[in-house]
Amino acid sequence: MSRRYYITTPIYYVNGAPHIGHAYTSIAADVMARFKRLDGYDVFFLTGTDEHGQKVERAAAEAGLDPQSFTDKVSADFRDMALKMGVSFDDYIRTTEERHKKSSMELWRRIDAAGFIYLGHYEGWYAVRDEAFYDEAELTTRPDGSKVAPSGAPVAWVREPSYFFKLSAFQDKLLELYESQPDFITPAGRRNEVISFVRGGLRDLSISRTTFNWGIPVPGAPDHVMYVWLDALQNYVTACGFPDESAARWRFWPADVHMVGKDIIRFHAVYWPAFLMAAGIALPRRIASHGWWTVEGEKMSKSLGNVIEPRKLVETYGLDQVRYFLMREKPFGGDGTISHQALVTRVNVELANDLGNLAQRTLTLIARNCDGALPALGALSEDDAELVRATGALPASMREKLDYQLFNEALEEVWKLVRAANSYIDRQAPWALRRTDPARMATVLRVLADTLRALATLLQPFMPGAMGRMLDQLGVPADARRIAALAAPLPPGTPLPPPEGVFPRYVEPAA
Ligand code: MSP
Repeated sequence: MSRRYYITTPIYYVNGAPHIGHAYTSIAADVMARFKRLDGYDVFFLTGTDEHGQKVERAAAEAGLDPQSFTDKVSADFRDMALKMGVSFDDYIRTTEERHKKSSMELWRRIDAAGFIYLGHYEGWYAVRDEAFYDEAELTTRPDGSKVAPSGAPVAWVREPSYFFKLSAFQDKLLELYESQPDFITPAGRRNEVISFVRGGLRDLSISRTTFNWGIPVPGAPDHVMYVWLDALQNYVTACGFPDESAARWRFWPADVHMVGKDIIRFHAVYWPAFLMAAGIALPRRIASHGWWTVEGEKMSKSLGNVIEPRKLVETYGLDQVRYFLMREKPFGGDGTISHQALVTRVNVELANDLGNLAQRTLTLIARNCDGALPALGALSEDDAELVRATGALPASMREKLDYQLFNEALEEVWKLVRAANSYIDRQAPWALRRTDPARMATVLRVLADTLRALATLLQPFMPGAMGRMLDQLGVPADARRIAALAAPLPPGTPLPPPEGVFPRYVEPAA
């Protein structure tokens, strides 16, 4: 039985159109899912939409639609965006589905049966935009006297009957969890923030609302709907078949990684494990949080009109190019900016020049001088052996980086090899060997073809389209594109199709 790997994206609020921030989390999770499949794992990759709560209810009202028709429409658009971004999800969950209502109600019953829910009265600040409760001390007062949350979201005073979750009972257990599993929250900076938040003391959490009804009803209290985050977090468990532990999907729980943005770390690293502990359900292994994108250095906002629609970006630069850029440009945990200039540089220098030209030069030489077939490897010089060794070491170093979502470092490892191969081809000058030593030329080209095969194989999770085409050109059959297949060299004489560039340069459109 192969090893299992379960990875999730956050489920997206369907209050508006998808933007590049949403696409980013999904692409990052997709790279992980594809990499693990490539590495022989039994993978379950979940994404979907978060459809309840006041924020969505209000957006539906503004659009003049009933909440269900509105969420049907926006959820379908998110799904389309995911597919267009090459996101290879195995299931797409919607929190308005029946399976999810059943699962969330069961979660509630279990937490309740364990004695962690009581009825009370909530009075305090609430930000609909974040669907979050805030303490007075967390807020800032604007010059006009209005108050805003740390995220900048406006808050309103709420007073209503509410059920509470005894979050305060979990402070020590949570601290023990962070202590005993130091990589439960990555990167370390975020872990430290969470630890100091929990050390500061946890108050019980309001987990039901009574002033609107777009939500999952509380079992036994139909005038209450569940707090949207309780319902939302449960999606990860619902998709595994909960509460049916005999479901085929149940084998995937607990999740290996929940990928989330830094803005929603508290929900995932504090509330979620506490809910699960209360209900007696196993905890996810890791919460991997990422930083945010700005656009040309500015925060994305509707009022600035700089919100990037991922599908448009793909039309301009190409899908593989956009995926590569997002994974390469900034460290996963940190913030970064999307700029036209940076995109063009990555596309033209790293993809078109460094990798594209290396493949094009090698394949053209093989087409012209080796009868269009893969040459055989002769005796290896020290220089050849060095490149062969570096190529062989790449899978392990990528695994190590990607297991901690260090996408840009993994790509840096790949580019070290790309640069090494470029210096190797220049040093060995196979075009000159053609007359002087054809056998030596064949060996050099074969060393390069094998390096390109490893590069293209390992880059498939990042750029599935272009790397698939590169593997076609290298004569690699469809069933020999996994990491394990790299151990078996292709037979010399394998015919190669005529070479074709895979990375066009980006050229500015004429003004
Ligand atoms: N519905 C909740 C998540 C529930 S998960 C049980 C939610 N949805 S969201 O649509 O607002 O955001 C989803 C993700 O998009 C978050 O991980 C968030 O960090 C990410 N991003 C939103 N804007 C972003 C950027 N500008 N840059 C990078 N990621 C951003 O929160």
